[in-house]
Amino acid sequence: MNRFAGKVALVTGGGGALGRASAVRFAEEGASVVVADLDLDGALQVAAKIDSDAIAVRADVTRSEDCEAMVQAAQDNFGKLDVVFVNAGIGGEKVEFVDLPIEEWDRVMDVNLRGMVLTCKAATPALIDAGGGSIVLMGSSTGGWDTILGSGPYMTSKEAVKALARNLALELARYHIRVNAVCPGIIETPLSFRQAEDDPAAWEKFFTRFAERIPLRRVGQPEDVAATVAFLASGDASHITGASLLIDGGQTLQSWSNSPETVYPLR
Ligand SMILES: NC(=O)c1ccc[n+]([C@@H]2O[C@H](COP(=O)([O-])OP(=O)(O)OC[C@H]3O[C@@H](n4cnc5c(N)ncnc54)[C@H](O)[C@@H]3O)[C@@H](O)[C@H]2O)c1
Repeated sequence: MNRFAGKVALVTGGGGALGRASAVRFAEEGASVVVADLDLDGALQVAAKIDSDAIAVRADVTRSEDCEAMVQAAQDNFGKLDVVFVNAGIGGEKVEFVDLPIEEWDRVMDVNLRGMVLTCKAATPALIDAGGGSIVLMGSSTGGWDTILGSGPYMTSKEAVKALARNLALELARYHIRVNAVCPGIIETPLSFRQAEDDPAAWEKFFTRFAERIPLRRVGQPEDVAATVAFLASGDASHITGASLLIDGGQTLQSWSNSPETVYPLR
C-alpha cells in the first residue's frame, strides 16, 4: 500500500515505541515524516531507521513555541503538513489519590492533555493551508468505565481524549480536517511495564499473564496500533471523523462479573 505517497506526516513522541512504529508505517506507505520528541536522540534514531524522507525535531509538546517549531519544520523541509499523530504521552508515577502531589497531577495533564491541545492548535493552520488533512489522537482503552489503581491523572487525561476528538472533529470538519482517536489496550512497550526493561524474564511473565486475560489471547504490539493509525489517517477512512477506535483484543469486553474460567475457558 502507498496511501501516503506525496503526504507529509508529523508524529509527536515519535522516538518512543508506538510513535516509532507509526512513523515507520507512514514512511513505508510513502510519507515524508517529521519525528518529533522531547528525546532528540530517540527521534534521530527513528528518522535514521526510516529509509525515505524523514527528519528529527526536538520538541516539548508542553511548550507552544516548540509545537509551532515542529510544524514549521514540516513546512520548511517538506513544503506542507497533511497528517498529525498526536501521540506523545507519559504514564506518570503510580501513586494513590490520598498521597498524590498536585504537581504530579499537573505534570501528567500538561503533557497528555494540554500538550495534545497545543499540538493541534499549532498544526491546524498548516492543515488548513494544505487544503485539509487528518489528525489522530492517542487515547487509551482503559479509563472509560474502568480505571487503574494509582493512575488517576493518566486515566483522566486519556478519557478526555475522546471528548476532544469529537469536539475537534465537529469544529474542523468545515476545513476538511478529520479528527479521530485510537484507544489501545495493553501494548507490549516499556510504558506498560517500566520495571522490567532490563529483565527479559520478568517482562515475558508480565505480558504472558495479561495475554491469558485477553479474549484474543495476545497482548497488542506497536504494529497493531500503527496499522490502525495509518487506516484512520488515510483516505480509506475519508468518511470517518470524531471516532474513537479500540485496539485491545477484546480486553475491555470482559467484565468482573464474567469469570475467565467459565466464559473463556483456557485452552
Ligand atoms: N503502551 C501502552 O500500552 C499504551 C496503551 C494505551 C495508550 N498508550 C499511549 O501511547 C503513547 C505512546 O506510548 P508508548 O508506549 O510508545 O510510550 P513511550 O514512553 O515509549 O513513548 C512516549 C514518547 O513520548 C515522549 N514524550 C514524553 N513527554 C514528552 C513531551 N513533553 N514532549 C514531547 N515528547 C514527549 C517520550 O520521550 C517518548 O519518546 C502515550 O501517549 C501512551 O499514553 C500506550
